[in-house]
Amino acid sequence: MKAAVMRANRAPLAIEDVRIDDPGPGEVLLRTVATGICHSDLHVIEGHLPVPPPCILGHEPAGIVEAVGAGVAGFAPGDHVIGCITAWCGVCKFCTEGRPYLCPTQFVGRPFGAKPRLSGPSGDGIGQFANLSSFAEKMLCPERALVKIRDDMPLDRASLIGCGVTTGLGAVLNTVRIPAGASVAVIGCGGVGLAAIQGARIVGAGRIIAVDAQPWKFDLARKLGATDCIDAKEGNPVAAVQQLTAGGVDFAFECIGLVPTVQQAVAMTGRGGTTVLVGVVPLTQLVPISAADLTLQEKKITGSYMGSNRFRFDMPKYVDFYLDGRLRLDEMISQRIGLDEVNEAFERMRKGESARQVIVFD
Ligand SMILES: NC(=O)c1ccc[n+]([C@@H]2O[C@H](COP(=O)([O-])OP(=O)(O)OC[C@H]3O[C@@H](n4cnc5c(N)ncnc54)[C@H](O)[C@@H]3O)[C@@H](O)[C@H]2O)c1
Ligand SMILES: [Zn+2]
Ligand SMILES: [Zn+2]
Repeated sequence: MKAAVMRANRAPLAIEDVRIDDPGPGEVLLRTVATGICHSDLHVIEGHLPVPPPCILGHEPAGIVEAVGAGVAGFAPGDHVIGCITAWCGVCKFCTEGRPYLCPTQFVGRPFGAKPRLSGPSGDGIGQFANLSSFAEKMLCPERALVKIRDDMPLDRASLIGCGVTTGLGAVLNTVRIPAGASVAVIGCGGVGLAAIQGARIVGAGRIIAVDAQPWKFDLARKLGATDCIDAKEGNPVAAVQQLTAGGVDFAFECIGLVPTVQQAVAMTGRGGTTVLVGVVPLTQLVPISAADLTLQEKKITGSYMGSNRFRFDMPKYVDFYLDGRLRLDEMISQRIGLDEVNEAFERMRKGESARQVIVFD
């Protein structure tokens, strides 16, 4: 099968012929129909997240089941599915307390010494990213990384739910559960931030302020629910948010992953408010913030990982949200491309020229 392989960091992905194994126990073989491109893939390419090459990236997929391995009861050939990086074990402390997205075994692949799921022409193993590796015509995944969805859901739009939409919507609906009427700022209007804006609209937030350095995104942000938009390059976005909200928002979502914008998110959070860190700051970087802001104004800061999901429960619900018109996914797709154009897509992402880009397979 054809796949885009990361052979080195900070280099273009190579389109190669890759071998994919047959499904083993508990595994499902899929035909990839579509995969969104998330900034976390770019973080890996840039070396900001430690995943060693060679590796096939891509973790926002939708596809159709082709074959299932021994013991797989929940999937059959022909099923339409979405894949998610937060596979769960079902027995650990986090799984049993209802937070399976924190399961520490989510990235454990086949047992040590087993045949690799993906390999090159000479049989050398190629790393699978987060049990998915969707920049490839086929995927071999643990069944616990997959959820079956309705057949009437278009799979290119379903792919967005695999990561960005679940992350942004879930930050609002699951991680902090913002109440109706609350004021919200979302810094960063990429796939994740636009989904957070939609989450805020869906729960009936009051003011929803979108902040981005690319003003062309504001028409889109408004269509998806933003009531106000602030150009981060024009003056100080913290002062602008404070002015719109008489001192700061109830909830600020940082959806970029940069040190200065994390600091801005804390600063634009009002007294008693909550800052939600969704963007991934490179692991080697620390963020200085004022501790006194937290003490004297009782601000709270929380991280939000993969929208605090229970994806077998959340994703079919988000599919329903799309099909009943509440979740707008058509507007979020700025480009549909072939696998061959994946490097150009990352270039557009670096320059801020895309909303969500989706690779569609024939
Ligand atoms: N927490 C999680 O579980 C999780 C899951 C998925 C993605 N992420 C992370 O979320 C972040 C966003 O992902 P994405 O795919 O939406 O990215 P993206 O590249 O599509 O969007 C980023 C947006 O930020 C804007 N931006 C960049 N610098 C800015 C600045 N200085 N001021 C204002 N706006 C600026 C860009 O114009 C763009 O609209 C990434 O760090 C990604 O790794 C986290
Ligand atoms: Zn992602
Ligand atoms: Zn577990």
